[in-house]
Amino acid sequence: MSVYPIILSQTGFAHRDELTYPFEERGLQFGDGVYEVIRIYGGKYYLLTEHVERLFRSAEAIKLSLPFSNQDITKRLLDLLEQNEMVSDGIVYLQATRGSAPRNHAFPTDTQANVYAYIRDMPRKTNNLINGVSAITQRDTRWENCYIKSLNLLPNVLAKQAAQENGSYEAILERDGIVTECSSSNIYLVKNDNIYTHPATKTILHGCVRMRVEQFAGNDNIPFVEEAFAVEDIFAADELFLSSSTSEVMPIVEVDGKMIADGKPGKVTRQLQEAYEKDANINKIVT
Ligand SMILES: Cc1ncc(COP(=O)(O)O)c(C=O)c1O
Repeated sequence: MSVYPIILSQTGFAHRDELTYPFEERGLQFGDGVYEVIRIYGGKYYLLTEHVERLFRSAEAIKLSLPFSNQDITKRLLDLLEQNEMVSDGIVYLQATRGSAPRNHAFPTDTQANVYAYIRDMPRKTNNLINGVSAITQRDTRWENCYIKSLNLLPNVLAKQAAQENGSYEAILERDGIVTECSSSNIYLVKNDNIYTHPATKTILHGCVRMRVEQFAGNDNIPFVEEAFAVEDIFAADELFLSSSTSEVMPIVEVDGKMIADGKPGKVTRQLQEAYEKDANINKIVT
């Protein structure tokens, strides 16, 4: 199934064909809004609380007042699964914008946020998770506030497109030679059994899976070092991997056409993949 028929909007549940927006809508015209993508496994959310909390942090950062409480939206998202009788692996996409108003950069007054959420099936990327993926490096041309999960994704879109045109899975973003994250995931380097990743500053999105990766590393006594690494460090790495709600913990085995270590997923990455599967209560795909 593609998009499930029942969607959530600010006025309640509706059929997906019933949802329309005026063309003067802040999300459409300015990207003036925030969003979340939450993983669903077997009809159940993974890291729901973490995502909802981040949605509120993003909204606060852009001075957007959300028309629901944390508890309300959590309940409605759970109801959305039930209403659609969702039992498979998928995602929910949830967005909130500053509403519909005559086009003007400054905030409109007396406008309610527009909100919608829909679910769709998305199987796990089994083959990539087992064998690893390739990536290319790209300049990080984004703004200073990448910790906000805003709708403004043009630099991410262009970087991902460049990766796709190169036959690669992801684009690794660098600012002045320092790796920040990827176009739609966080990235980590393993060297001498330490995990290195960019600190959770305003320059990167604080991934919900990243938070978990830090915990998994702690549980297994693997040092998790929040220290940025350079593009050239990638080519001397023992392992490289990325994380996100749709990619889980994904090995990267090739960058810019060069093999990372022996070109196979490494043992720390495998350990973290196993911890992820246990935490999300899903099947082991690597045996
Ligand atoms: C730029 C960026 N970084 C990191 C992530 C990973 O975040 P999460 O683990 O919460 O899915 C995403 C997810 O879409 C992203 O777009």
